[in-house]
Amino acid sequence: MCGLSQPRRPSPRIEPVSTLAPLRPILELPDELISQIAAGEVVERPASVVRELVDNALDAGATEIVVRLASGGVRLISVEDNGAGIPGAELPVALKRHATSKIRDLNELEAVGTMGFRGEALAAIASVADLTLLSRPEGQATAMALDARSGELRAAARARGTTVEVRELFFSTPARRKFLKTDATELGHCVEAVRRHALARPGVGFAIWHDGRLIEQWRAHEGEAAIDRRLSDVLGEDFLLASVPVQFEVGPLSLRGRAGLPDTARSRADQQFAYVNERFVRDKVISHAARSAYEDVLHGQRQPVYVLYLSIDPTRVDVNVHPTKIEVRFRDGREVHLAIRHGIEEALAAPRTGHGSAGTTPTAVPVSVPADGFSPSAADERMPTGSALPTWRQSRMDMGGHPIADLAALWRPADTPSVSALGVSEHRTAAPAFPSTAGDEPIWPLGRALAQLQGIYILAENDQGLIVVDMHAAHERIVYERLKTQLDQARLGSQPLLIPVSFAATPEEILTAETHADALLDLGLEVSSLSPRTLAVRAVPATLAQADAVELARSVLAELSQHDASTVIDRARNELLATMACHGAVRAHRQLTLDEMNALLRDMERTDRADQCNHGRPTWRAITLRELDALFLRGR
Ligand SMILES: Nc1ncnc2c1ncn2[C@@H]1O[C@H](COP(=O)(O)OP(=O)(O)OP(=O)(O)O)[C@@H](O)[C@H]1O
Ligand SMILES: [Mg+2]
Repeated sequence: MCGLSQPRRPSPRIEPVSTLAPLRPILELPDELISQIAAGEVVERPASVVRELVDNALDAGATEIVVRLASGGVRLISVEDNGAGIPGAELPVALKRHATSKIRDLNELEAVGTMGFRGEALAAIASVADLTLLSRPEGQATAMALDARSGELRAAARARGTTVEVRELFFSTPARRKFLKTDATELGHCVEAVRRHALARPGVGFAIWHDGRLIEQWRAHEGEAAIDRRLSDVLGEDFLLASVPVQFEVGPLSLRGRAGLPDTARSRADQQFAYVNERFVRDKVISHAARSAYEDVLHGQRQPVYVLYLSIDPTRVDVNVHPTKIEVRFRDGREVHLAIRHGIEEALAAPRTGHGSAGTTPTAVPVSVPADGFSPSAADERMPTGSALPTWRQSRMDMGGHPIADLAALWRPADTPSVSALGVSEHRTAAPAFPSTAGDEPIWPLGRALAQLQGIYILAENDQGLIVVDMHAAHERIVYERLKTQLDQARLGSQPLLIPVSFAATPEEILTAETHADALLDLGLEVSSLSPRTLAVRAVPATLAQADAVELARSVLAELSQHDASTVIDRARNELLATMACHGAVRAHRQLTLDEMNALLRDMERTDRADQCNHGRPTWRAITLRELDALFLRGR
């Protein structure tokens, strides 16, 4: 506490007891009011009713669910299912508060596998709207209908299943009705509620009608591809093309789903679907883990797109946390975090043939390189689409058997043998760095380098067309991934400089160099003070041996100065490595030989997450021959 005197605060005024109104006697609230208060928690808007009714239909084992709405659900919500139905005698009980067929005791609550268990949804809805229950279980001669308001029970016509009709939501609570938005907005929320269910239940068919028109229909799918087909139906085919499958098992957890590629990220978090045992949830552990899995590939506030299905032993998750059950509590949040994070990271890093940054794919196509280095026009050899193309992963394995120019080639001093000195022709279509082995053709998804454009882009050719690579962005990613692996494996070797380079440093830089000497060493940097005003760089990470040592040291010091604890490497590791990678990456306007360009392309193919630079921008784009033909109106 500093010695300065604090300004005097006025002491709080204490009201004399006599001015308080006398308390009224304590009374029990009438049932109706209790229900209305409870309804406030469960029924916020039409979409909440839709969610509860569809939950019930799913719990009843329905395979077809029809939702009918009028005026955004405010006038009418009807949910019709072909599930097990409710026996006529039980209809009045179903409407009672705390009446449920789903759990009997605490043990069952702790292991609950149904969507509902509180036994209050129907009662809550009936307290704020007109509700009718119409149901017929197997073996009951006719259906029975119950009007919640009048209590009248009568015979009716219906096949097996249940229809719940909810009319005039909030008719008796006008204050709440005022909070509703336009019909269009409420309709949007209702559709979203069904969509959330539909994404988790591909085996159930859903239809949504609004004001007499069919506005959505998702048919039931069976078999292994069912979930992908449902995802495609609900989120669009593009989602499948622009996402990668997630599959991860750890201990009692199993994670499935799809993660959108970084360039499909959005400004809003409106395409993030997470399920725990088929229940849609909004959970901080899950969303944080997912966000951190994208940390390396998404910049700024961009929101990733994903659909994740977590299966977990029900006793390891508490679903009774929130009246709407949209929040859950995990017994061990860390295991969930780990599964989500690793599952997505692994999925994003996995090599893929699917989607290219531009929506076109550099499918792995064998590129034949005849001995004379001349390849016939790619157009003549175009692979028929749909043939059994090797995957990108296979192509990487194939490449393993060939002499691959090392990344170090990019830094080879000018006096090492040039491409022509290696005896390889520099013909336009040649791929000099890669002598082919007869009968064992190398496969390069990113093709062969043709030229460098404006010192910024590498132009390459594969059998699909043209590949354009942002060379700095691509190399930055390669260096970054390499640094990460080396640091993880404690192999981030340091290379002493023959002649240390000194630079005039600010007092802050000198202090940072002293306090973080260990962290710097961990990063392969040796920086020490020569004088009160001068720092010397004595060693740099071997991977960055060619980088500008002073620039590198300065930016790492700037980064380190923002952290004070000794655990800095753990916490700021990725930012530090990204900073270093940027300095280590080949600069724009540096002329590369074809050999060097090919080395870079091959390195990209072998590098995880090479499709994006460290800031989430694409590193390459493909222009197919078909697109080129269209540009030149060929074949029209
Ligand atoms: N569509 C339906 N098909 C068959 N039975 C149903 C249906 N809807 C409701 N029921 C029966 O009515 C009971 C009460 O439903 P309600 O939604 O109020 O409670 P719940 O689903 O048990 O729990 P929660 O309040 O958590 O939803 C259910 O337990 C179920 O037995
Ligand atoms: Mg329910």
